[in-house]
Amino acid sequence: MQKNFENPVQMTHEKSKDCCSSDEHCGTSMKGGLPIKKGMLSFITLAMVATTTVLTVLLINEKKMNVVLPAPDAKPAETVAKTYEMPAMKTVGEKIDLPEPKTTGKMSVEEAIQTRRSKRVYSEEPVTLSELSQILWSAQGVTDDKGHRTAPSARGVYPYSLYVVVRNVEGLDQGLYLYDSATNTLGNLGLTNAGELLAASGVQDNSQKAPVVIALTAAFAKAAVSFPNNPEEVTFLEGGHIGQNIYLQAEAMKMATVVTAGFDVAKVGAALGLDKNETIVYLIPFGHVGVETVAE
Ligand SMILES: Cc1cc2nc3c(=O)[nH]c(=O)nc-3n(C[C@H](O)[C@H](O)[C@H](O)COP(=O)(O)O)c2cc1C
Repeated sequence: MQKNFENPVQMTHEKSKDCCSSDEHCGTSMKGGLPIKKGMLSFITLAMVATTTVLTVLLINEKKMNVVLPAPDAKPAETVAKTYEMPAMKTVGEKIDLPEPKTTGKMSVEEAIQTRRSKRVYSEEPVTLSELSQILWSAQGVTDDKGHRTAPSARGVYPYSLYVVVRNVEGLDQGLYLYDSATNTLGNLGLTNAGELLAASGVQDNSQKAPVVIALTAAFAKAAVSFPNNPEEVTFLEGGHIGQNIYLQAEAMKMATVVTAGFDVAKVGAALGLDKNETIVYLIPFGHVGVETVAE
């Protein structure tokens, strides 16, 4: 009898069909192959499937790992430590006393939060000195004898300055001014064409037309003293608080404002003659609510 060793499993299977009709060696192949029980056959098949699956998973993982793992000789990315310098002190000319800001009003804070909207159209009506004083106070006014201000500041370092581009304010010449929180005054920086320079630096149309534009500038060096690892992040967070104060104050006065960050920081900074260590975070136009005209 010729033995077939090429496919013992198949032979076993064929044989097992026959042998079950007789009671001799049921479930066992003896003819032309190894003696294998039926259960063993299923076990072998299962084991093969499981092994193939495990190998496939390992292979896929290996491929993935090859993608994410750096080459053995790759060097860690170099980190460049940033240094921050304090901006030079501004020399201001004439100092203008601002009217005392109000600390009570007709609109509740809940109502202001509920109705606040960004408004980008301003009327021709001039802003009064009291209105300007009020909006600047809401942003960075001093509220106690320890020097705390209207907006919170991480570790009280107060890295922000407020520059005011004046186009149409009663009793003020056109130009650029610096707000002094401590004395509630505006220092004249003498840049009489600040409005035109701002317009020429490519800021959006509403910023060009507003009677007042507040430039909120940050000196990261002030924050770096307390937060050497992340002075910029901390400072930007603070800018949001100041912006929201301005929004709510404008709403309570039924006036118009919008915070804007869509401009070329370096270009606008240069146009307003700011120190390279001062970064404009927001340009915030402010004025009376205008009527939007729809082009026909
Ligand atoms: C970080 C920041 C930057 C923004 N920049 C601009 C801007 O460059 N120009 C603009 O018109 N509005 C700007 N906005 C205002 C948003 O467009 C406005 O908040 C948004 O459309 C939602 O409308 P609301 O303020 O009326 O609720 C800015 C708002 C934030 C918070």
